[in-house]
Amino acid sequence: MNGRFAPGWYQSATVRGRPRRTLDEDREAGLRVFPEHLVPHLRHEGLADVGADARQALLAQHFYQYMLFTTHLETKVVNRGAALVAHGEVDVDLSPEARLDAFKIYCDEGYHALFSLDVVQQVEKALAVPVLPYDFAPRLARLERTAERFLPGLDSLGRLLQVVAFETVVTRYLAQIPRDETVFRVVREVVGDHVSDEVHHHAYFVRLFRELWTSLSPALRVKVACSMPHFVDDCLRPDLAPVRAALLSAGVAPATADAVIADCYREDVLTAGVRESGRHTLKLCESVGAFDIPEAREQAHLLGLLP
Ligand SMILES: [Fe+2]
Ligand SMILES: [Fe+2]
Repeated sequence: MNGRFAPGWYQSATVRGRPRRTLDEDREAGLRVFPEHLVPHLRHEGLADVGADARQALLAQHFYQYMLFTTHLETKVVNRGAALVAHGEVDVDLSPEARLDAFKIYCDEGYHALFSLDVVQQVEKALAVPVLPYDFAPRLARLERTAERFLPGLDSLGRLLQVVAFETVVTRYLAQIPRDETVFRVVREVVGDHVSDEVHHHAYFVRLFRELWTSLSPALRVKVACSMPHFVDDCLRPDLAPVRAALLSAGVAPATADAVIADCYREDVLTAGVRESGRHTLKLCESVGAFDIPEAREQAHLLGLLP
């Protein structure tokens, strides 16, 4: 694989050129830690009696979960795959530059993990809302199940495709938070820093997937094409256990928490969210002909991602 990655990375990457983002309580006066409209359960009528402090705690927990998800994802999934690419341990012909680029991505993602945890700790201190434990294991298990189901014995290919999926989906969080003037400046800054690196990662993994595809045998193309809609779903489907834990910690009764979750995270709503945030990845698959393969189209259809 050839092509230019992030021109001027040594100067322009966040890890190379941008300052540590710090929370200054005066600067954040009147702002919220996270956009309320991106937290579906906050608007539910079952939470109408929840007081202002508990509401702020729910918003903070949602923010923590998002950032902690990022720290785990970057180090346990994305960098695992980026290292395979950098070492040339994938079935794609890589130019020397493309291998170095994979290590630039590795550095970027390591720094994203660092600043995500850093800002969580700063917010925790400022708001005095303790961070609840975060468990990434269910997400990892879901990704591994898809890899074993569609790509048995092809460990490095599965790990690479997990990265392609995560690096080419575009969530509303990344798109909207940097521009939302109601949100803590420090949060907008770190998410903005993250977006400016991810634009380059996105382009890199689109190219990598296209080249990988051309190198695959017809039999492997079927397996890869069938796995991709599942990897997209694995990436984007929200974990509801942390939402429940946050509601309980805010003093919401278990039965109310369950009812709120059942209403706010209905299957059709979740599927629509996956379709929306996964549209670039699904288009990428479509563009190489992956969904011309009937079995793959069927998998995407079963997940509600294609008509
Ligand atoms: Fe990242
Ligand atoms: Fe990335």
